[in-house]
Amino acid sequence: MDMKTVRENARHKLKGFCRVCPVCDGRACAGEVPGMGGLGTASSFKANVEALARVRLQMRTIHPVKEPTLSLALWGTTLAMPILVAPMTGSTYNMGGAMTEEAFVAELAAGALQAGTIAMTGDGADPTMYGSGLAAGKAHPASTIAIIKPRAQEVVVQYLREAEEAGVLATGMDVDGAGLVTMAMKGQPVGPKTFEELQEVIGATKLPFIVKGIMTVDEAEAAVRAGAAAIVVSNHGGRVLDFAPGAAEVLAEIADRVKGRTIIFADGGVRSGADVLKLLALGADAVLVGRPLVVAAFGGGREGVALMLNQFKNELLQAMLLTGTADVSQVSRAILFR
Ligand SMILES: Cc1cc2nc3c(=O)[nH]c(=O)nc-3n(C[C@H](O)[C@H](O)[C@H](O)COP(=O)(O)O)c2cc1C
Repeated sequence: MDMKTVRENARHKLKGFCRVCPVCDGRACAGEVPGMGGLGTASSFKANVEALARVRLQMRTIHPVKEPTLSLALWGTTLAMPILVAPMTGSTYNMGGAMTEEAFVAELAAGALQAGTIAMTGDGADPTMYGSGLAAGKAHPASTIAIIKPRAQEVVVQYLREAEEAGVLATGMDVDGAGLVTMAMKGQPVGPKTFEELQEVIGATKLPFIVKGIMTVDEAEAAVRAGAAAIVVSNHGGRVLDFAPGAAEVLAEIADRVKGRTIIFADGGVRSGADVLKLLALGADAVLVGRPLVVAAFGGGREGVALMLNQFKNELLQAMLLTGTADVSQVSRAILFR
C-alpha cells in the first residue's frame, strides 16, 4: 500500500464529503459543517494552515546530531513519535458513512498503535459515538484517550466512569464544543463550563485530564489552576467559531506562560513532519493530526493510518536532522527563522 492508492480509495469512499485535495487547507470544503470543512467562511480552518505556512525553519547541518530522539514519555507509556490521532466523530454526517462510526474509530486506534502512538477518541450528538471510541480502546489498555463534550456535570461524571472502566490512558473535555446547537437539538445539551465546574469534573477522576480547545493565555492559566494534566491549543480545526486565529499564532504566548506546569498539545493544519517540528518549536510537547487521518482511515484502514503516521515521523526525523534538533522533548525556538 502507498499513499497514492490510499488517497485514491479515500476520494471514492468519502463521496465528496472530503475532496482529498492536494493540500488540505479548508478552501474546497469551506462552510461544510456537518461535513469535513471549517465553519462559515472557514477562516479559522484556513488560519491554522496559513499560520503554520508562515513559520519558517532555519537550516543547519554542521552539528553533531546524527540520531535524533523522536520518542516521548507520556503518563507511563512511551510513544514512538510526538504525534497523536485527534479525536474525530461523525462518520455518517461528516464523512459520508462508507465506514460505520465503530469501524472508523477502531481503524484509527489500531493504526495509531501499529505506528507506536495513540489515538484520542471523541464524543458527539449521537451517544453511541462516545461508546464507539471507548470500544476501540478496550482491546489494548491505555491505548486511547477519551475526550468528552462539555455536557451537563452529572453526564460528564458518568462518562468519566465509563472511560475509567474501559481502561483508557487519560480523559478530557473539548471545552470548545460549548456552542454546538446540533447537540442541544438532539437532546444532548452542551455549554460553557465555569471555572468551578471545570475544577469539579477534573477532580472527579484520578486519570490525567486534558482540556482541549484553549486559545488564550488566561484560559490556559485557568485550566492549569483547575488541575488539567494537559491542554490542547486548538480552534477545533476551525469547526466551532469563524474568525479565530490559527493555533500556531497563539501557541508561543501560551507556552511561555504554562510550559512545564502542564503538558501542551497543539493541533490544526498539521500536514507534514515539518509542521510537527514547527509546533514543537513554538512550545508544544506533542501535536494532534485530524483530517489527513480521516483520508488515511477511509482509504487504507489501519494500514493507511499507520502509513501516514510513519510518513509524518520520517519527515519529522529529516527536519530534525536539517535543523540540528536532537530530541523532540527539547526543541529550541532558535530553529525558527524570524
Ligand atoms: C470531522 C471532524 C470531527 C471532529 N470531531 C471532534 C470530536 O468529536 N471531539 C473533538 O474534541 N474534536 C473533534 N474534531 C476536531 C479535531 O479533534 C481537531 O481539533 C482538528 O480536526 C485538528 O485540525 P486538522 O483537522 O486541520 O488537523 C473534529 C474534527 C473533524 C474534522
